[in-house]
Amino acid sequence: MPPSHRPACANFSSGPCAKRPGWSLEALNGALLGRSHRAAAPRARLRAVIEKSGALLGMPPDWRLGIVPGSDTGAVEIALWSLLGPRPVDVLAFESFSAAWATDIVAQLRLPGARVFSAPYGELPDLARLDPAHDVVFAWNGTTSGVRMPNADWLAADRAGLAICDATSAAFAMDLPWDRLDVVTWSWQKCLGGEAAHGMLALSPRAAQRLQTHRPSWPMPKLFRLTDADGIIEGIFRGDTINTPSLLCVEDALDGLAWAETIGGLPALKARTEANLAVVAAWVARTPHAGFLARDPGSISPTAICLTLENPEAARAVAALLEAEAVAHDIAPYRDAPPGLRLWGGPTVDAADMRALLDWVDWAYAREVHA
Ligand SMILES: Cc1ncc(COP(=O)(O)O)c(C=O)c1O
Repeated sequence: MPPSHRPACANFSSGPCAKRPGWSLEALNGALLGRSHRAAAPRARLRAVIEKSGALLGMPPDWRLGIVPGSDTGAVEIALWSLLGPRPVDVLAFESFSAAWATDIVAQLRLPGARVFSAPYGELPDLARLDPAHDVVFAWNGTTSGVRMPNADWLAADRAGLAICDATSAAFAMDLPWDRLDVVTWSWQKCLGGEAAHGMLALSPRAAQRLQTHRPSWPMPKLFRLTDADGIIEGIFRGDTINTPSLLCVEDALDGLAWAETIGGLPALKARTEANLAVVAAWVARTPHAGFLARDPGSISPTAICLTLENPEAARAVAALLEAEAVAHDIAPYRDAPPGLRLWGGPTVDAADMRALLDWVDWAYAREVHA
């Protein structure tokens, strides 16, 4: 018999992620639709996204934070195209997005001497081999492999290079070691469940200095330009945008940020995320045919929770069956990742829903294995 309880929300996708509990379209009623984003009131809304995001994340006051085009991909690529060149670059490639940044660096920017440190899904590259005199590019949390950085010890406090961190599935769910990072990026569509639209680009004073002094040798599309003849375009970090934003998406981003403030800020977001991982960890511990894809327990991601099941064929069927039952949407692994299940455990997901989902996984797995 199928379980009697269903998750109240069946959205377990790793992006776009579930809306915050209680969200409805009415949350967007105040959106300044049909207005110019450069007018005072809409610009203030954009600026509020910047200020509330920085405050919630504990971003140091001397950093710059801007809203940029192209979601997290845009934010990362703007950083790579704007900042890389003066120093050798090390890049960590341990799942598909970080591998994409390696492709950008090696095949598109063709940076001489770039070193790619790769690891298979479920593992991290050898972090001890990085050179603190080089720039380093990496994801804090591998959304497609369920592996996160276990700590920041491998990032030197006195590094000469820049640490460029794609934190899209970590920001608002985990602590970020701001003192060890120089560029931090994320998107609206991840941990706070916003509409997919813009990316957020945070720059340390050292990254800003690089931006000020370094002129890339390659052409820069307007979409990527953070500087003009006078230096850094400071308006980008005060609510101006490079091109036209969606004010509907801005309102939705603000709704997610307001919810995060209401429940208690970053500590509460982290606690909700960790509660989801705790539910899954307890299930893995009592389920002999299940395991985490992450090899090192210290690196298990609490947001993109990637699981292996003893019978990979059954895993595929479980995801399809739970989709058909409307119990869980989008829990099949990323298309290039090993078979299994990927359950989003970020802060907008309720632990009670994760618990209910796992009962359904048990039911579906048993059905498929004995079919
Ligand atoms: C680690 C990581 N980097 C980059 C991206 C790309 O993000 P976006 O599609 O928002 O540009 C994702 C999306 O899931 C991701 O998980």
